[in-house]
Amino acid sequence: MAPPVIQLEHVRKRFALPGGEAVPVLDIESFAMAAGEQCALEGQSGSGKSTLLHVISGIMRPDAGRVVIDGVDLVRLPEARRDRVRADKLGLVFQQFNLLPGFTALENLLVAMSFGSGKADRSRATDLLAAVGLADRLHHKPAELSIGQQQRVAVARALANRPRVILADEPTASIDPAHQQQVIDLLKTTCSEHDVALLVVTHAPEVAGQFPRRLRLEDFNRAARAGASA
Ligand SMILES: Nc1ncnc2c1ncn2[C@@H]1O[C@H](COP(=O)(O)OP(=O)(O)O)[C@@H](O)[C@H]1O
Ligand SMILES: [Mg+2]
Repeated sequence: MAPPVIQLEHVRKRFALPGGEAVPVLDIESFAMAAGEQCALEGQSGSGKSTLLHVISGIMRPDAGRVVIDGVDLVRLPEARRDRVRADKLGLVFQQFNLLPGFTALENLLVAMSFGSGKADRSRATDLLAAVGLADRLHHKPAELSIGQQQRVAVARALANRPRVILADEPTASIDPAHQQQVIDLLKTTCSEHDVALLVVTHAPEVAGQFPRRLRLEDFNRAARAGASA
């Protein structure tokens, strides 16, 4: 059995409403993914999918529990170390692509590489952008790219530091159909080749159906079940 690269135990997260009332969003006894495993995550809008990805990535601290990434418990780490673990071990593709607006596509990858332990590798960055069909857009800034092209830059950037895990939050939601399959294929192929665990949130059954493991958040998040029945 491959060792888990993602391991959550007893994770809880609540959000405070303006009135002060705390609403539970995550209540997860355990969740794990093995090295190289590929998994689609579905669930109703508001069931906590994005929050779960933020917690796994260490961007958001849970109120309780353990979040272990490749053997490192993110919850206990000081912020600077957590940022370094995220840069080295995790590739992120979020709904808001979070590209740096003042930098070209190529520079966005080089900056991501500079946050990791490796060195910024221009030829590898160029290859990654070519692999998502952007060989002729290397020197365009995000505002000069279509939404779909920006999303493809975000996918290429997620792969930049040879991560152990890629977390993708609806990565094809804003991409034209011609490129949706290209992005999914790229994520899946790259993750297979490099034994990277891939967790993709999606609303599209035709996307989820391509994954060997398919989960609904309501099935392992008690807070979402409680919310649904309230
Ligand atoms: N920063 C926040 N402050 C307060 N409530 C939040 C915050 N982020 C998310 N929520 C709430 O948590 C719930 C889950 O949100 P989210 O994880 O974005 O769901 P999903 O991605 O499954 O649609 C929603 O009810 C949302 O309104
Ligand atoms: Mg979401």
